[in-house]
Amino acid sequence: MKKVYLETFGCQMNVSDSERVATQLAADGYEITFSETAADIILLNTCSVREKAEHKLYTRVGQIRNLPRGKPMVGILGCVAQLEGETLFKKIEGVDFVLGTKAVGRVSEAITTVSADKEKFLDLGEREANYDWSVAAAQRHSPCVAFVPIIEGCNKFCTYCIVPFSRGREKSLPASEIIEQIQRLQRQGFREVHLIGQNVNSYRPQNDFGMEKFRGATAFSRLLRAVSATGIERIKFTTSFPRDFHTDIVQAIDENENLCNWVHLPVQSGSDKILKAMRRGHTAENYLRRVEVIKNSPRGISLTTDIIVGFPGETEKDFQATIDLVNYCQYDGAYIFKYSQRPGTPATEITDDVSSEEKTRRFIELEKQQKSNQLKVSAGLHGKILKVLVESRSSRDDEELTGHSTCHKVVNFKGSENLLGEIVQIQVTESKINSLYGKVL
Ligand code: 5AD
Ligand code: SF4
Repeated sequence: MKKVYLETFGCQMNVSDSERVATQLAADGYEITFSETAADIILLNTCSVREKAEHKLYTRVGQIRNLPRGKPMVGILGCVAQLEGETLFKKIEGVDFVLGTKAVGRVSEAITTVSADKEKFLDLGEREANYDWSVAAAQRHSPCVAFVPIIEGCNKFCTYCIVPFSRGREKSLPASEIIEQIQRLQRQGFREVHLIGQNVNSYRPQNDFGMEKFRGATAFSRLLRAVSATGIERIKFTTSFPRDFHTDIVQAIDENENLCNWVHLPVQSGSDKILKAMRRGHTAENYLRRVEVIKNSPRGISLTTDIIVGFPGETEKDFQATIDLVNYCQYDGAYIFKYSQRPGTPATEITDDVSSEEKTRRFIELEKQQKSNQLKVSAGLHGKILKVLVESRSSRDDEELTGHSTCHKVVNFKGSENLLGEIVQIQVTESKINSLYGKVL
């Protein structure tokens, strides 16, 4: 039996694609191994959202090729594969096949073709009409939390972003298939699902089969209500696009306890001038109007975001507008990135006048401010009781378990192994910047 080692970089969509690649390979008689030295075939599912992520691929292939072992077959999948295509064969020595973001369903074909013909294999084509979106329970990244794609691709073309080029146009999956998948996950014992997509709230399926009985102002809020009605215990969704964030989503959360109290709403910048140059389709003010509705929910919805510092043309004044917005929003978490030029995106045409040192300075200043805000937000949870899904043993302490709250906070606590996979009530006794500590009630 041939052994396959599969390593995944980047977003949840890549993790989800890898789960389906592993499902297919296992069904076709391959063994999935966690040892790169034991593998006959090495697959790297790649990310190109920032230059750093892309460089990781080149470093990793080098490391793998230098291992004291025979020459494995190497396949590059995902976003870098889609964007670079054939050039990867020249750029990286030893690559045998390249499969784009929608060609991952043909991974077995790639392996057999390369094995038989000893030739390179390239496929940047579309998904098969009957592409199988299901994942074997054993190939999920977690035994109790499952990712369920509801929309792939992106039509927004924010000027800095490579995703519309690497993942193509938005395509929503039928609601009936999503609901069926979630019912199957329930039967398999999964307690939490994450509905995933680059912009989940741009969900627009071709028909409303599966959500006929559910009302709502947008297809996404109707889908949320339909998923809620399956009775699965916890539903989270990410990422939401501010311009399309209809407040009916908050209403759906207010009305249905299994829709978790967490919204990830990337703002990117607090300056209207920069937001316009980014072509985000929202201003700081209309973003804040949505934040207001989220904050006013009686559910205590936690709010997280993504921010880019040092976008071309960002002045100190623009950057301070971001600091002001971050202070106003009091985010529960923020992923902060230094602007990274991606070849082929519209922003490459704007002169990047923010030096690398200045980007770093702004990154550090914003991070410091966010950390200090986050500490206060966390301290506000002191003494509170949170429902935590126990996901695994803590990697730092053998006697500790770890999981996430409904508001998507990492919570650590002492407890025995038989709690794994359970939802427990935890009283928060200690708060840190990125995690909470508590005791089981
Ligand atoms: N440079 C820096 N950050 C970027 N992101 C996307 N493209 C870039 C880029 N070119 C960030 C955005 C997005 C997150 C997933 O990655 O903040 O929300
Ligand atoms: Fe990229 Fe903008 Fe689409 Fe998000 S919405 S994936 S940032 S283009």
